[in-house]
Amino acid sequence: MRQRLIVTGAVVTALTLTVPASAADAGPSPGAPGAGDSYYPDYGNGGYDASHYDLRLKYQPKTDELTGTATVLAKATQDLSRFNLDFALDVQEVRVGGRKAEAKATGAHELEVTPAEPIADGEQFSVVVRYKDVPSEVEVDGFTSWQRTPDGAVAANEPESAWWWFPSNDHPSDKATYDVSVAVPKGYKSISNGDIVSEEPAGKGWVRTAWRSDKPQATYLATLAVGKFDVTKGRTDSGIPVINAYSRELGAEDGSARASIERTAEITDWLQSVFGTYPFSSVGGYVPASDAHFALETQTRPFYGNTRFKEGTDVSVVVHELAHQWYGDSVSVAKWRDIWLNEGFASYASWLWSEKEDEGTAQEIADEVYDSHPADDEFWTVAPADPGAKNQFHDAVYDRGALALQALRNKIGDKPFFKILKGWPAQHEGGNARVEDFEKYAEKVSGKKLGALFDTWLRTSAKPTDPAFGATSR
Ligand code: ARG
Ligand code: ZN
Repeated sequence: MRQRLIVTGAVVTALTLTVPASAADAGPSPGAPGAGDSYYPDYGNGGYDASHYDLRLKYQPKTDELTGTATVLAKATQDLSRFNLDFALDVQEVRVGGRKAEAKATGAHELEVTPAEPIADGEQFSVVVRYKDVPSEVEVDGFTSWQRTPDGAVAANEPESAWWWFPSNDHPSDKATYDVSVAVPKGYKSISNGDIVSEEPAGKGWVRTAWRSDKPQATYLATLAVGKFDVTKGRTDSGIPVINAYSRELGAEDGSARASIERTAEITDWLQSVFGTYPFSSVGGYVPASDAHFALETQTRPFYGNTRFKEGTDVSVVVHELAHQWYGDSVSVAKWRDIWLNEGFASYASWLWSEKEDEGTAQEIADEVYDSHPADDEFWTVAPADPGAKNQFHDAVYDRGALALQALRNKIGDKPFFKILKGWPAQHEGGNARVEDFEKYAEKVSGKKLGALFDTWLRTSAKPTDPAFGATSR
């Protein structure tokens, strides 16, 4: 226990000299400014675990002004003299345990917080951060993930997006639940994760919607969009509530976007037959008027850049993002190098969809992928098990990653293979896992030694000569 010595009018630091200098008595120390991820050393923080984010926000689309009060509930994992949050916006005030704390920006996305009193190891504490800024004007490393759209804005990106809209321990290893309450001018809607808890007037000309994510969620999977959305509510045949949203500014691609996202209900129910019970309390998707070229598996409610739908409907991207709800969202990477656990499996899910739609079996797609990359293709130099930060979203993580699963399926047979696909999300529901954990699990369920197979498909910098693939090798 660390008691503060209070002696009126005297400086008492000298007293500490009498305390033996053992490690336990070294006194509170600063939490690390990073979570120890080799790809992104300064992402996330050390010294505490966040358990809940309560984000009370107000957003004016005309000026891109975001005002917020974030309350972070956390537990210290060491005696803390100070700690960091990842945040890039301008902060007005920080309180810890109700008391004013010192806060200073020590990097583009580092906010260093020094509480009035040290926090003891194991102690629960709350941090309140008041902030106001124009996120589109805030660049970190030369870019911003906050996208302004014709009718509002969107925060969705991987791995960086949280620090443009809320202060956090921004690493997937620290998952938490969320309450996101957003006031927007009448005529606009806010979209976020999970369920809608309430919608009510918020002063003259403003409306406030409260969203809740009651299952652990990684920071990069939290999303916020404001725009002139059509919000539709329904249920899947199995009864899961569905909330979809489409910007009214979409224009010509609106029909294709809708037609694609409406498949969410059907695809989610089908995915339950492959991956097991859907892990969250609602599902959906949203398409803002954003010309981003990517989609993202934001929890319960994937983000789809509308360029996906300019050429017509696209069901495979919906299968991919929904598959991530099991592989990526419910079971999250422990470190960013474990990204194969997300992208390899989500990609393979769309091969399985093709197989069940009678549009080509997974084996046929695997053959095509295998054949389309000659042995000297750079594709084979990327090892999905640890692709490196700059190759985190390389095609190889997706396609070679899915080939690895087809190789596994061929090696162990359908029965154990599908048992693994269903068993893994149940085993690690709501948690984090490593690639190595999956390998051990697959060996356990199949009763086969799989080290060589995983090394070949996930770790070798050369095109594997697996007789199971490729028209040329048959
Ligand atoms: N996880 C996303 C997917 O579904 C990829 C996002 C990549 N990030 C980006 N800004 N392009 O595959
Ligand atoms: Zn993906």
